[in-house]
Amino acid sequence: MKKSTQAPTLHVLWSGWKLVILLSISLCLFALLRLHYQPMFPSSSSSSPYLEIYRARSRYLRHAGFVGNPKLAFLYLARRNLPLDFLWGSFFENADVANFSIYIHSEPGFVFDESTTRSHFFYGRQLGDSIQVAWGESSMIEAERLLFAAALEDPANQRFVLLSDSCVPLYNFSYIYNYLMASSRSFVDSFLDAKEGRYNPEMFPVIPKERWRKGSQWIALVRRHAEVVVDDEVVYPAFKKFCKRRPPVDASKGELNSKLQKQHNCIPDEHYVQTLLALNELETELERRTVTYTSWNQSATKMDTKGWHPVTFNYANASPRQIQGIKKINHVYYETEFRTEWCRANSSSVPCFLFARKFSKGAAMRLLSEGTVGRFDASSLLDSTP
Ligand SMILES: *[C@@H]1O[C@H](CO)[C@@H](O)[C@H](O)[C@H]1NC(C)=O
Ligand SMILES: *[C@@H]1O[C@H](CO)[C@@H](O)[C@H](O)[C@H]1NC(C)=O
Ligand SMILES: *[C@@H]1O[C@H](CO)[C@@H](O)[C@H](O)[C@H]1NC(C)=O
Ligand SMILES: *[C@@H]1O[C@H](CO)[C@@H](O)[C@H](O)[C@H]1NC(C)=O
Repeated sequence: MKKSTQAPTLHVLWSGWKLVILLSISLCLFALLRLHYQPMFPSSSSSSPYLEIYRARSRYLRHAGFVGNPKLAFLYLARRNLPLDFLWGSFFENADVANFSIYIHSEPGFVFDESTTRSHFFYGRQLGDSIQVAWGESSMIEAERLLFAAALEDPANQRFVLLSDSCVPLYNFSYIYNYLMASSRSFVDSFLDAKEGRYNPEMFPVIPKERWRKGSQWIALVRRHAEVVVDDEVVYPAFKKFCKRRPPVDASKGELNSKLQKQHNCIPDEHYVQTLLALNELETELERRTVTYTSWNQSATKMDTKGWHPVTFNYANASPRQIQGIKKINHVYYETEFRTEWCRANSSSVPCFLFARKFSKGAAMRLLSEGTVGRFDASSLLDSTP
């Protein structure tokens, strides 16, 4: 009797367990599938959930409370050597070595020493972990990030200015130092990019279109923003994947060529930092302009994108009048936003530009002889001319 009553109970119990096990397995499977297919980002356009993700990790020691002499870090993105090292050497001669530091990203293996540079300030200042850079591709922003990372290692570095190998200073060291140190804001050229098709919708939701920005690659950052750039582990991978330069037309590739020509023609270095800072809701902490002047050749039509080249200054067109003209500029107009940016640093009116590109050796020679960077007193030169 006992057995016969026990058997059905056991049977019911066993079926119950089977159901529980089955349910658990399907729940697990469901959870796994959800994890796999659910987008990593919430689809709501409110920014707060994104912020958590952008600011996920901080690999770098924070030196917020740094006391001592703050340094201005000069970060050079070079192809190989620094052709204008003689001008920069003279510029740094007039500075206190305790007030600046130098980092160079050059091609891997390239060493700055007596045989490759005319200025001792650059000896051994190349990064040991530099990468091969393809101009206009995401390796360029990776190189920038390596420069910022190296410079962040020194807690004294409080301002960071990114320069190319064809950039020149327009003032002496103390003027540039005081200008940048006085500003608690970064200088990042940043504007809405309404007309061009560089934004790739596949970047969504990591990069929503309303936060997509364009601007000059040549930036000057405060330490906090340099940390945001180096800490970023979310926006950079999205750039790497979806912001690519369109390769030149190559008919021999046939089908592949027409496919490539349809993709968004994106130039990562003209978007990355400005978009990253916009995503981090840091635009209120920026002067939304660059401190590095570029002269654009506007004679070419807008359709002919090859004509939109920076003009290279040579000996002839780097005249004192030209340079004075650049130094007098006190505002910039942003067409896409109908915004006039009156140039300020720490709320005072200042000239917009501290640096300029692109300068040939001849043009840099002329700046040096005219005493733009200090050392050579222009008036004494003029006095001695008959
Ligand atoms: C170096 O910086 C300190 C203060 O930060 C300043 O007193 C000094 O004049 C600077 N030296 C030069 C050469 O700019
Ligand atoms: C640096 O340049 C500024 C502005 O051009 C000038 O007023 C100042 O006297 C210069 N300082 C030195 C040390 O040459
Ligand atoms: C900014 O300007 C204010 C007022 O003119 C001044 O008190 C302050 O010291 C300046 N800040 C820096 C960092 O120079
Ligand atoms: C501007 O571009 C035009 C056409 O591309 C070229 O002929 C001209 O030399 C350029 N001007 C300068 C100053 O580079």
